[in-house]
Amino acid sequence: MTATQAQQRAAELRQMIETHNRHYYVLNKPVITDFQYDMLLQELAAIEKKFPLLTTGNSPTQRVGSDITKEFVQVAHKYPMLSLSNTYSMEELHEFDNRVRKGLDGEPEYVCELKFDGTAIGLTYLDGRLHQAITRGDGQRGDDVTANVRTISTIPQQLQGNDFPHEFEIRGEIYMPFQAFERLNREREVDGEQPFANPRNAAAGSLKLLDSGEVARRGLNCFLYYLLGDRLPADNHYESLQAAKRWGFAVSEHTCKCNSITAVFDFIRHWEQAREALPYATDGVVIKVNSFAHQRRLGFTAKSPRWATSFKFKAEQALTELLSIDFQVGRTGAITPVANLAPVLLAGTTVKRASLHNADQIASLDIRLHDWVTVEKGGEIIPKVVGVDRSWRAIGSEPFRYITHCPECGAALVRDDGEAKHYCPNDSHCPPQILGKIEHFAGRKAMNITAGEATFELLFRNGLVRNAADLYTLKKEDLAHLDKWGEKSAENLVKSIAASIDTPFEKVLFALGIRYVGETTAKKIATAMRSIDALAQAEREQLLAIDEVGERIADSIIAYFSDESNRALIARLRAAGVQFEAGAQMRLSDTLAGMSFVITGTLSRPREEFKALIEQHGGSTGNTLSAKTTHLLAGDKGGSKLEKAQKRGVKIINEEEFMKLVKRYEL
Ligand code: IVH
Repeated sequence: MTATQAQQRAAELRQMIETHNRHYYVLNKPVITDFQYDMLLQELAAIEKKFPLLTTGNSPTQRVGSDITKEFVQVAHKYPMLSLSNTYSMEELHEFDNRVRKGLDGEPEYVCELKFDGTAIGLTYLDGRLHQAITRGDGQRGDDVTANVRTISTIPQQLQGNDFPHEFEIRGEIYMPFQAFERLNREREVDGEQPFANPRNAAAGSLKLLDSGEVARRGLNCFLYYLLGDRLPADNHYESLQAAKRWGFAVSEHTCKCNSITAVFDFIRHWEQAREALPYATDGVVIKVNSFAHQRRLGFTAKSPRWATSFKFKAEQALTELLSIDFQVGRTGAITPVANLAPVLLAGTTVKRASLHNADQIASLDIRLHDWVTVEKGGEIIPKVVGVDRSWRAIGSEPFRYITHCPECGAALVRDDGEAKHYCPNDSHCPPQILGKIEHFAGRKAMNITAGEATFELLFRNGLVRNAADLYTLKKEDLAHLDKWGEKSAENLVKSIAASIDTPFEKVLFALGIRYVGETTAKKIATAMRSIDALAQAEREQLLAIDEVGERIADSIIAYFSDESNRALIARLRAAGVQFEAGAQMRLSDTLAGMSFVITGTLSRPREEFKALIEQHGGSTGNTLSAKTTHLLAGDKGGSKLEKAQKRGVKIINEEEFMKLVKRYEL
């Protein structure tokens, strides 16, 4: 490789790595595997080693990726929050051990820990009380997510005992146990929201939510693994962790002192298998030098400590034949390709089906029928196809032609700009879409109509319901002739349908299944617009002014109401008694009459509750500062609105002052 070639390739690699950093740390939606990412980074490091002049302080080999987002206040880390070097091979681990011995001129004691696959957090405690929780950010500054972290029950707000330092920091990994992850993804699917690819993304995404109430529901958890401060309770890592455990922190019980590198290898070999039984995701083992004095002697590089490294487990992969590709049609018409595979054993289970994501993925990997493909089971529940072994390709095989028509109803598929997926536009006649919509409408978080499994499919296949409004005309007698359908269950279903007309408007709005309008968005829209008629007539600008409604959602709402069949459905539902208006807001006082509020930052409860309170007391609310705005209610962290309000002379009040304002009247 010439210097010019090296320069070109390094620039190419840096750009790719930056793009993937953004996908991983900011969007929480990686598009390549960790292993592929590490390989890019290793290639860049090798080039920089060979051509040292190409190294810049700004190279991704010298920095950690950044998770900073504009919604949170950024805080400087007292101690930079570094990353860990990593290796995938036992030889490299031997080299690490040799470097450590050389640096120490003697025998180190190691501590082995599991490498939890979540998102890093730094917690500071003052006099035993949780003071601040900061994400890694770019390693120097991170996002202040204290309000969200306070909702994680295993993170102590107040420590036990009395031997903790007056001030210290403890770092750990916030993660989402598999069970919580599966529940969340099931809910997201029902809500028409994209499921998270793996528990790591789900944890990182949840930690950055603006609504702490929602964070609390997500079931996050945290392991702590690193103490920093001037007066730590011991002179080594292991005992400090044991002290932290006594103070109330969740320290993993699978932390082990190893007095030789052979013992380290044993630990790794054990957990490579045993981790499969853990209820949370791990992606390797972290090896740390135990003694703090030794750690100080070894020190740090720009990016990571020299006294620690991680051995990463490779995601388990298997090679098998791609037999065929199925196309599933979801309730919104989204098409998902699924690979049917020759059965293969992968991480203890036989895999026959795997995700293929979308048309682009198939094209970019050039996956063809009867190819031998690599399937991988990472942190994800469903295995995915991640590559093709071209050397096994049959002569005469042809590139896979993605379907152009819906496999269920034959309609020509469409693909909107910027969308990864194809859609079947025939939403009123395509069977899986019709059935999916009815099931969504009846769902627990929507109209909460209780029915046995596959009930709606039975009703649909027997021609008894073709849309949600048909449910309200069902009679007990209609159900009587259905196979194995007793009178009691028929009666229960009819009763449950009748009771559903009292479902509040926000849930009805969600139940309609407008594309991209999930549960939370529906709530915000219902609070802002108050009725379906107002929503149906709203201008695009009006929709965009609603919290969390962007162009994609606004356009989807407009498209929904411009469809005659949707309007007809609403008319029939309304005639059946379904609620299409928000319940009247009880007027409590006129204390806030003439005042117009804008809310910014994180408050102790969801913003919608404060908005409701303002309206109940006669005030009004807006999403952006305008000439009308009289008050800015500022939560934990302000952002740009604070500055703007100061400039315009808008009165800024915090939550406590706001509550006083409201309560003064109530007293
Ligand atoms: S120690 C300076 N211990 O892995 C050393 N990190 O890839 C600080 N991680 O940034 C890290 N489990 O987010 C440490 N037992 C463990 C860990 C762990 C997971 C994460 C952590 C770190 C990343 C590096």
